[in-house]
Amino acid sequence: MASSQFQPIQGMSDIAPPDVYIWQMLEARAREVFARYRFEEVRTPVLEKTALFTHSLGDTTDVVTKEMYSLEDRGGRKLSLRPEGTAGSVRYIASGAEETANARIYYMGPMFRCERPQAGRKRQFHQIGLEAVGAPNPLADAEVIALQINLLSAWGLEGAKIRLNTIGLPEERAAVLEGLREAIRPRLSELPEDAQQRFETNVLRLLDSKDPIVQEIIADVPSVTELLSDESRAYLDTVVETLRGLEIDVEIDTSLVRGLDYYVHTVWEVVHDGLGAQNALSGGGRYRIQIDNKTIDGVGFAMGVERMIAALEATGVTAEQFAPEPAVFLASLGETALKENLLLMQTLRQRGVACEMELTARKIKAQMKRANKFGAKTVIIRGDTELEKGIFVVKNMEEGTQQEVELPELMELLI
Ligand code: HAM
Repeated sequence: MASSQFQPIQGMSDIAPPDVYIWQMLEARAREVFARYRFEEVRTPVLEKTALFTHSLGDTTDVVTKEMYSLEDRGGRKLSLRPEGTAGSVRYIASGAEETANARIYYMGPMFRCERPQAGRKRQFHQIGLEAVGAPNPLADAEVIALQINLLSAWGLEGAKIRLNTIGLPEERAAVLEGLREAIRPRLSELPEDAQQRFETNVLRLLDSKDPIVQEIIADVPSVTELLSDESRAYLDTVVETLRGLEIDVEIDTSLVRGLDYYVHTVWEVVHDGLGAQNALSGGGRYRIQIDNKTIDGVGFAMGVERMIAALEATGVTAEQFAPEPAVFLASLGETALKENLLLMQTLRQRGVACEMELTARKIKAQMKRANKFGAKTVIIRGDTELEKGIFVVKNMEEGTQQEVELPELMELLI
């Protein structure tokens, strides 16, 4: 490919045919599933005040401290490209009156994180996600997880697993963090430098560290669940029981913590073996975000579209399977037929038939070649003789047969 000084930024890509067909399928089926659960779409801006994200996601999280695309606009305002969809959704919900108190919203669109590009990690990636507002209720968490299961099967993905955990309530957080620090402290000096920093700023993140030294030390530390109150453990138990009642299997993973600070109670990830190290197809959980003097409680998840596609492709699905149906091709012989065919094409298109034709008079052989390339199943051939007789030659490209029909029959065949 010719190199150009205007190529897209590393980690950001064009999404074009045939790949885009699988994107369109995922989006269309997600809309169907969301509508069945009565979620409605909200499209929030891609650019927001940086403070929205630092405040909602937590100002010590990696996403906020290392990964945001931030800029100052001409008025000196500090802005960031959204790294995820929950903060903007909650801002929208908090701005509303009562009608948003039980809002159920979904979103689809690009998110931006300035991470080191690697397999499964893009700088512009896409999420399909949703948020259900409402006070903590294990049944609400189970309902959203059940929705996600339906979504995965509507998308045709087999073999995805749900890992579930609880991180308890904000009022217990201090005790949990202290419990963890106490257990780790005797071996603090053995931790790598960045992990020692995490020990102070965000000790929970040590639990899902990939560093073998950290993992070895963490292995002897009590799990978050053990450090939580009975109430929080009971909440998790109810979520799991409710899911069992819905015949949904989940795996409890006490090392699962999430990279964003707003979570309370239930957190989960959907993972798939078809992916490499970045095996999370989706992240989600229950959260509590304080915004404009309002406390928004909710539960939701976001699927990573690129990773979803990688998982589908690992199971043999291809984008071409979702290519649009080949159109009808109109072949013309002579200038008069060309004009008449243009009129016929307009009528057919108005009535919902996808058609194509050559707009310059060319040899029939060249036109048939183009029809083939196009994947047309049907070719309508019309020259001056057919025009005079008021008939159309309809060629079935798959069977190689052809027949002569009049206009009413043609319409019946195509519409
Ligand atoms: P998250 O786990 O940060 O959660 O992201 C959700 C999903 O987005 C990930 O599981 C992954 O599939 C995808 N993803 C994240 N970063 C990248 C990247 N750099 N490249 C490709 N895909 C990526 C959230 O964003 C929360 N807002 C989810 C949520 C909604 N929680 C409650 N409601």
